[in-house]
Amino acid sequence: MSDNQKQTIFSGVQPSGKLTLGNYLGAIRNFPILQEEYNCIYCVVDMHAITVHQDPAALRRATLEVLAQYIACGLDPEKSILFIQSHVPAHAELAWVLNCFTMFGEASRMTQFKDKSAKHTDNVNVGLFTYPVLMAADILLYQANLVPVGVDQSQHIEICRDIAARFNNTHPGTFTMPTGYFPKAGEGAKVMSLADPAKKMSKSDENENGFILLMDKPEDIMRKFKRAVTDSDARIVMDPQEKPGVSNLIQIYALATGKTVAEVEAEFVGRGYGDFKPAVGEAVVELLRPIRERTEDLLKNKDYLEQVYTEGAQKAAYVARKTLDKVYRKVGFVKR
Ligand code: TYM
Repeated sequence: MSDNQKQTIFSGVQPSGKLTLGNYLGAIRNFPILQEEYNCIYCVVDMHAITVHQDPAALRRATLEVLAQYIACGLDPEKSILFIQSHVPAHAELAWVLNCFTMFGEASRMTQFKDKSAKHTDNVNVGLFTYPVLMAADILLYQANLVPVGVDQSQHIEICRDIAARFNNTHPGTFTMPTGYFPKAGEGAKVMSLADPAKKMSKSDENENGFILLMDKPEDIMRKFKRAVTDSDARIVMDPQEKPGVSNLIQIYALATGKTVAEVEAEFVGRGYGDFKPAVGEAVVELLRPIRERTEDLLKNKDYLEQVYTEGAQKAAYVARKTLDKVYRKVGFVKR
């Protein structure tokens, strides 16, 4: 299939701190699988990251680290466009236009805005409020057909579709309608905290036993899994309602080893958590080892990373400009 017959995929990850096993199993794991069949564009969304306080030096480091992790997880800069959001000004430019096609009420209903403004009461800024509009601009600029994300992003995909539909309604044929591409339930769609299986695994969790970082050392991974919250019924069976902690560990173990849930349950019949938790830890150590080592190597080669993000931004800007020109013409801006 030639490149212009292929559908387009777009996704992004925030460089706000370190990436977790949730980011990997819910989203990034799927990125390389898709790059053979689609035109793929993957972005490090640094502009989204500054909606909460960031230390500038740490943000720069984290941005390069996410780029390195994209490559370490199997993305090939020759096959996919990899770039940094702030390097392509069209994102901010389209976001402004889309702000004027987004209703105050619908932005107010976003659960992420409600959660983050409750958590960062000292910094309830307007960027946090218009975050989903910038995300819609990211996706719509590239006329993306599919957006691979974890289920926590489903509301953001919905508002993106609503904004696109509203714009297309006034200006027909402008944007491709994107669809979210979510892992199936139990296959990484939502990886839960190891410390509190009612919450999703998140790098912003205050309890660092709750999340596994892609760059965690093996001994830290083992310790966190050994401490993972389970229940007092010692059976290793999938039951997300009654046994959320164990079910989360089964999901992680199945994904890390390539086994089915039934195979995992069979493997641990008659065995207790004392066997199961270290087995999950070891499987995750082995899953993440090559990613961590490759990331460390890539971070030593800043020239290479610079070449990747510079070329990526050039290619992305070319595609983005075409959409932005069309949008500017449709809304009535004079051609520059
Ligand atoms: P972010 O940076 O929070 O997360 C990156 C990706 O990881 C997924 N994810 C999870 N999946 C399963 N279980 C978890 N515990 C878990 N935690 C995170 C997220 O669903 C996401 O796919 N708003 C986005 C970034 C973004 C974006 C975009 C995504 C900006 N523009 C355009 C797609 C398209 C975010 O905050 O992701």
